[in-house]
Amino acid sequence: EAAAQPAARTRLPLGAAVRDDPLEKEADYRDAIIRHCSQIVGEGGLKWYDLRPSRERFVYDRPDRQLAFATANGMTLRGHTLVWYGAMPDWTKSISSAAEAEREMVGHIEQVMGRYRGRIKSWDVVNEAIPDEPASRSDIRPSIWQQRLGESHIALALRTAARVDPQAQLVINEYDIEFVGPRFRRKREAFLRLLRDLKLRNVPLHAVGLQGHLRAEIPIDKEGLSAFIAECQTMGLQVLVTELDVVDEKLPGPPEVRDILAASRVYDFLDAVRAGSPIDSILTWGITDRYTWVPLYFKRADGLENRPLPLDRDYRPKPMLRVIEHFL
Ligand code: XIL
Repeated sequence: EAAAQPAARTRLPLGAAVRDDPLEKEADYRDAIIRHCSQIVGEGGLKWYDLRPSRERFVYDRPDRQLAFATANGMTLRGHTLVWYGAMPDWTKSISSAAEAEREMVGHIEQVMGRYRGRIKSWDVVNEAIPDEPASRSDIRPSIWQQRLGESHIALALRTAARVDPQAQLVINEYDIEFVGPRFRRKREAFLRLLRDLKLRNVPLHAVGLQGHLRAEIPIDKEGLSAFIAECQTMGLQVLVTELDVVDEKLPGPPEVRDILAASRVYDFLDAVRAGSPIDSILTWGITDRYTWVPLYFKRADGLENRPLPLDRDYRPKPMLRVIEHFL
C-alpha cells in the first residue's frame, strides 16, 4: 500500500491567499484550502509591519505556521512581499539616508529570504512599483526605497534576492495592468519599460505577477493585455496570476447574476493572459467570500455582501471557480 496522500484534492496549480485566524480555528476553511489549493500565500505575515514591529525584532510566528500548514498538506507557500511601499511599520519613516535605506532593505531580504531559503520557492520581491497614474514611462512609486535610493533599489533588491536564494523564483508583482482605458495603458507601458530595462541590464528576474484585482465595472483590454503578456514572454518572463478576485462594489443584480458577471470578467482576463503566454499558476486573494479584503476597501452601498471569490460564504463553488479551473 502506498502511503496515504494528504486529503484528496486537485493537483491544479491553483492557490489562494490564506488568513491565519480561520486557518487555525475553522475546519471548513482548512478543508476548502486543502481541497482546492496546491499553493498558498499569506494575506499577511511576511509584510514588513507584520514581521518587524520594531527595527530589531523579526516575528516569524505567522509565516512559520503558514509554511507548516502548507508542508503538512503537500502545498507550497509563496512569499509576499519584500519591497513594497505599503504595510510599512512607522519606524521605517525614520530611514533618512541612502546608506541606511540600502542597509535596511538588503538586510531585510537577507534575513527573511535567508530564513526560508529552499522552503519558499517563489517570492514577490517587488510589489506595486508603478504609480496609479504614471507621469511618464519612467515614473516609479515614491516608496521610502524609491525616495532614498532611486529606481536602482529595484535591481538591488532582485540581485540581493538572487544571491540569498539562487533557486528561488523572483517575481515583480503589479495591479491595474488589464483594464481598458488610457490610464491603464499608461501603467502597462511604464511597467513594460521597467521590465525591459531590468532584462537589458541582466538583472535576475523570472516572472511577472499580475495581481488581477479585477473591477466588475471596467472591461478587460484583451488586446492590450495579451500584447503586454506576449512581450513578457519574449523577454523570457513567466506569468503568474497572484491575487485574483473581482471587486464588485458597483456590480448590479441579484447574487446569482452577479456571480455569472464576475466569472465572465475572470474569463476575459484569463483568456487574454493565455493569448499572450501559458499561465503558470493562478492564485486568488482568498478562497471564500466569507474572508476577503474587498468589503474593507470596496464595500457595496446597497448593504448586500461582496462576492469577489471562487467559493461563497458557505464554501459552495461559484461559476468563477469553474472558469479558473478551465484555464489550468
Ligand atoms: C491586503 C490584505 O488582503 C489585507 O488583509 C490587508 O489589510 C491589506 O493588504 N495588493 C496586495 C496585497 O499586494 O498585499 C493586499 O492585501 C491587497 C492588494
